Amino acid sequence: MRDLTPLIAEALPSLVTLRHELHQHPEIGFHEHGTAARVADRLAKLPGMTLRTGVAGTGVIATLDADKPGPCVALRADMDALPMTEETGLPHASRVPGCAHACGHDGNVTCLVGAAVVLAAIREELRGPVRFIFQPAEEGGGGGRLLCEAGALETPPVAAIFALHAWPGLPIGAIGVRAGPAMASTDSIDIVIHGSGTHAAAPHRGTDPILAAAHVIVALQSIVSRNLDPTQPSVITIARIESGTTYNVIPDRATLCGTLRTLSAAGRAQAREAIRRVAERTAEAYGARAEVRLTPGYPVLTNEAAATAHIERVGRDALGADCVRDVSVSLGGEDFAYYLQHVPGAIWRLGVSASDSSPLVPLHSPRFDFPDAAIPVGVRIHCETVRRFDESVCAGSSK
Ligand code: NI
Repeated sequence: MRDLTPLIAEALPSLVTLRHELHQHPEIGFHEHGTAARVADRLAKLPGMTLRTGVAGTGVIATLDADKPGPCVALRADMDALPMTEETGLPHASRVPGCAHACGHDGNVTCLVGAAVVLAAIREELRGPVRFIFQPAEEGGGGGRLLCEAGALETPPVAAIFALHAWPGLPIGAIGVRAGPAMASTDSIDIVIHGSGTHAAAPHRGTDPILAAAHVIVALQSIVSRNLDPTQPSVITIARIESGTTYNVIPDRATLCGTLRTLSAAGRAQAREAIRRVAERTAEAYGARAEVRLTPGYPVLTNEAAATAHIERVGRDALGADCVRDVSVSLGGEDFAYYLQHVPGAIWRLGVSASDSSPLVPLHSPRFDFPDAAIPVGVRIHCETVRRFDESVCAGSSK
């Protein structure tokens, strides 16, 4: 097998340029037109590459034909940025007010473009075609689901899919893997507490929805600690509360919004039932009425065991055993979960911190920037994942 080091080194300067361009011009979900155009422009120049653009709005799906037959492996990156203001002060900081690549998707995209460049250069070695999926709207829009529906995993059928995500807390040069349930399901919680408004000095003439809402918030905290399996991580957070207009009026209603995160379908169903029961009956105890709406978001992300073991092997050989870390679950959501409902695969974490002990700048922080030094690591693992894949990796998988 060819040494990829010189090919990655040769591609790196233009990948760094691309990363900075993407970072300066972030676009939120389903608006990634400039990002998609930059990606398509680079991919279209590569030998053996067939492109589909405009998939589910802005998605780009590329297929690299291989000389030899074999299973089709897919790699996926998410293209969208976040509606927030960057505070890095870097020369390549966002030039779009109120929009920033604070989740590092600029880096995720760049690593995938890099993998396309390098794999196209070693096409004669590949056994089976490679699918490159650049999807819109991971940050809440469920672009992954739409791309699955648009045939991203078909013609030819994808045998396995892999993805990376930038991960603060892991040093550059290391990767993190986790088999099984690795990221949470996400349900939105909306609760409206209906009371009856009155003078603030005569509360007995109405029903105070704010007092009921306060008790509902406290009561919801007992669900995770008393109703759910303590060995299965889960979170219920009320993140917004809204009610009232002034000092001396008890309002008619209060609204609460939040999120439920779980790592199992059973925990999710139990928690949903409990949220409804606790909110409705607690409000009732205070003479108010709770109207509960639970909107399903992303499913639990489950990394397939054999696909995760493949990443581990590839990582150990490419980076050294010390640089492949077994990481804990995250209760963040990730719409890569949709692809994994159709084909086996795994998402792995790409280290982006300067060292194990450097201060952590979390994802979604206004000070987060994907480090260019992590690009070669991402490109290398993507490429090795593909060229070392064969049917035996996912043989016996149930999907
Ligand atoms: Ni992200």
